[in-house]
This record gives sequence, structure tokens and C-alpha cells, in this order.
Amino acid sequence: MNRLDGKVAFLSGAARGIGGATARLMASVGAKVAIGDVLDERGKQTAREIESAGGQALYVSLDVTQETSWSNAMGVTVKRFGKLDVLVNNAGVFVGKGVEEVSIDEWNKLVAVNLTGVVLGTRAALPHLKASGQNSQHGSAIVNLASVAGLVGSQLDPLYSLTKGGVTLFTKSTALEFGRKGYKIRVNSIHPGVIDTDMGQQTFVMRARALGTNDTEATRKTSMAMHPVGRLGVADDIAKGIVFLASDDAAFMTGAGLVVDGGYTAQ
Ligand SMILES: NC(=O)c1ccc[n+]([C@@H]2O[C@H](COP(=O)([O-])OP(=O)(O)OC[C@H]3O[C@@H](n4cnc5c(N)ncnc54)[C@H](O)[C@@H]3O)[C@@H](O)[C@H]2O)c1
Repeated sequence: MNRLDGKVAFLSGAARGIGGATARLMASVGAKVAIGDVLDERGKQTAREIESAGGQALYVSLDVTQETSWSNAMGVTVKRFGKLDVLVNNAGVFVGKGVEEVSIDEWNKLVAVNLTGVVLGTRAALPHLKASGQNSQHGSAIVNLASVAGLVGSQLDPLYSLTKGGVTLFTKSTALEFGRKGYKIRVNSIHPGVIDTDMGQQTFVMRARALGTNDTEATRKTSMAMHPVGRLGVADDIAKGIVFLASDDAAFMTGAGLVVDGGYTAQ
């Protein structure tokens, strides 16, 4: 189950956090992984750690907001590993401010990374995913990082929620478009609850500020209480879901959203 033997995966924003954990897990179940990020030192370190553990990994500098950066990243990956079977659109940024408080610059950055980045990544990977899809029984796969904030509204982060809602429906729409065009590319999204990563930490800080306190421990506890399983998520919880969606075990899934949220949206 959940093996990726012989597959080549590209993960944006995988220097650390959910992307980093997913790159490690993918390599451990047989994939060759390419990591793209703006954090060059951290990304190289993650790739080195995967190689030291016996996996195959490469790091390429990538700014997901730039089309030329994506074409370079795809070129480097295919040159080294020969093809591309899986794209994980994982890079993302968070802004926890209300409609009245956010600046236009902050909004533009959010859109550039969380939305434009996903569109550009999908377009850049498409020719390679089409080619490998035709050569494999169950096709190739895209996994987009949405969020519970792309399924239900958030009191404190409305603009972040808007971008993740966009990712949710872009996933369904591209699944339909690629199906209509006869491409063998499955497209699914994953919807994490609050995950204890750098971004998770950032949500506690920004939510505390939005509530007019500096008590990040209190916002952390409030977040935890919203997860019926009684804890926050960890990056590996999400990595396991991404690996499943990328694998042939999910061959009959496309246009779907896998919710991995400790029960957050069940209430
Ligand atoms: N942590 C959570 O609670 C949570 C919940 C739901 C969804 N998500 C989503 O999961 C994904 C990963 O989040 P994470 O928690 O690992 O956060 P993180 O901040 O630890 O990792 C995000 C990564 O994206 C990279 N990145 C940012 N801008 C980039 C750019 N322009 N080009 C390339 N890379 C860029 C960062 O350098 C970083 O390595 C994001 O899309 C996020 O929105 C996170």
C-alpha cells in the first residue's frame, strides 16, 4: 500500500514543514523527489538528509510566483530524474488579518503564492505529467495543499481562507478539465486542520494579535480545543495523506478533497 516505487515527485515549498515531511516520506516509499523552495539552505539540507537516509533527492531554487522559475525547476528535475509523475503544490503563506486590517501588499503576496503559484505550477508540470500519465496504468497525479480554511469560513483569517477556497475549486475544475481532454492526470486536494509547523506557529501569533493580546499560548490552546482528537496535527499526519493521494492506491480518486483535520470540520 501507498508505495511510490519508480515515481518522480516534485514538491514546492518542501524545504521544511508539511512539504519537507512529505518529501522524506515519499523518498522512503520509493520515489525520487525534487524539492523547490525559496529557502535555499534549508532546502539543500532537507535534500541532503533524504540522500543520507538512502533516498534520491535534489533541491532546486524556486519562487512559485515566477513562471521562469517554474520552467527552470521542471527542466532541472526532468534532466536529473528523466520524467515527472507527481506534483505537490505545497508552497503557501499565511496572513491572519481581517478585511479592514490587511494591506493590499499583504493581499497581493498571499494571492501570488497561494493562488498564482498553484496555477503556474500546474501549467509548468502539465506537459511532463501528461507524458508520464500516458505511460502508466493509473496515470500521474497532482496534490494541492488546501486547508480546512478552504472548506469552511474562518473568523480571523478571511483572506487566507479565500485563497484556500480557490485551491479547493481549482482542484475540482482541473480534474474535470484534464478528464475532458483525455489526460491521465488525477488532481486532488488535501485539507489539513491546524498543523504544528512554522506556519502553525505563525497562526497562533497572528490570531493573538488580531484578538488584541500577545498570548500565543492561549490561541494555541483554543486551536487545540477545536480538534476533537485532542491535539494539533503534525506534518507527518498530512504527509501520509499526500502520499496516499499521489499513489496508485488512489487510482479512482480525482477532483476530491481528503480532509485530515482531527475532526475540526465535523462539528
Ligand atoms: N500549518 C498549518 O496549520 C496548515 C493548515 C492547512 C494548510 N496548510 C498549508 O500547507 C502548506 C504547507 O504549510 P506548512 O505548514 O508546512 O508551512 P511552512 O511555512 O512550514 O512551509 C511553507 C513552505 O513554503 C515555502 N514558500 C513560501 N513562499 C514560497 C515561494 N514564493 N516559492 C517557493 N516556496 C515558498 C516556504 O519557504 C516554506 O518552506 C501551505 O500551503 C499551507 O497553507 C498548512
